[in-house]
Amino acid sequence: MSNNIQGKVVVITGASSGLGEAAARLLSAQGATVVLGARRVDRLRSLADELTGSGGKTIAIATDVTRYDQVKRLVDAAVHTYGRIDVMINNAGLMPQSPLERLKIDDWNRMIDVNIKGVLYGIAAALPYMKQQKAGHIINVSSVAGHKVRPGGAVYAATKHAVLALSDGLRQEVKPYNIRTTVISPGAVATELPNSVTEPDIAENIRKIYEIAIPAESFARAVIFAISQPEDVDVNEILFRPTRQEF
Ligand SMILES: NC(=O)c1ccc[n+]([C@@H]2O[C@H](COP(=O)([O-])OP(=O)(O)OC[C@H]3O[C@@H](n4cnc5c(N)ncnc54)[C@H](OP(=O)(O)O)[C@@H]3O)[C@@H](O)[C@H]2O)c1
Repeated sequence: MSNNIQGKVVVITGASSGLGEAAARLLSAQGATVVLGARRVDRLRSLADELTGSGGKTIAIATDVTRYDQVKRLVDAAVHTYGRIDVMINNAGLMPQSPLERLKIDDWNRMIDVNIKGVLYGIAAALPYMKQQKAGHIINVSSVAGHKVRPGGAVYAATKHAVLALSDGLRQEVKPYNIRTTVISPGAVATELPNSVTEPDIAENIRKIYEIAIPAESFARAVIFAISQPEDVDVNEILFRPTRQEF
């Protein structure tokens, strides 16, 4: 029986670590072709070698999601190599949280550029192909912080609220093209994300919060759930958190 994953061409941004890497592993194990994008190309290549070694089909392309031309090159490479793009996972992101009064304007700009513009560039790169195919699936990664705001997390939460808004608008606009959309909002998952915090005292607090973090496979299973549904089933939102997470 088909799992509706076998043979699908899945592009993943932020595939060099954490959630993107875990999704790539599980999708590849279930027969998807995975096209990996991130800036740390050495990490992408070793993941690609591992997946190919286990019989998977994959390519790795150095991609900075703050550059539209590079995101387009990633998606174009998927289509040129494998003939189509079935799923676009806009996952790349960072979380340098701090109270607004600290005026960490460079951190604000990086979050806006990666977490919002990076998602938009992924949509822009994939949508023309999916419209033409009259099929496709765009998965955007938001956060529990896309639903709730806490002191110190205003800008990160704003970017993740933006991902929810973009996903809901996209969902309604792409109905004529038979394109599915999913926004996944994880709680604390054990990845390298806390390393992106630039303020030492905030980093320490976040490390404590992440003591209850769950493995990245939790995200990968959510991705599998959304993609594996029959084509007439559009799972639009998934929110999950560690059982022990209060926020
Ligand atoms: N872990 C959690 O608890 C959690 C919870 C909710 C939401 N999320 C979201 O999940 C997504 C993935 O994060 P993660 O937890 O897996 O963290 P992670 O381990 O730090 O991974 C982040 C990924 O994003 C990539 N990235 C960062 N800036 C990039 C850029 N300019 N261009 C291309 N790729 C870039 C990184 O690759 P390179 O550095 O190699 O470019 C890396 O692969 C993020 O959107 C994050 O906000 C995570």
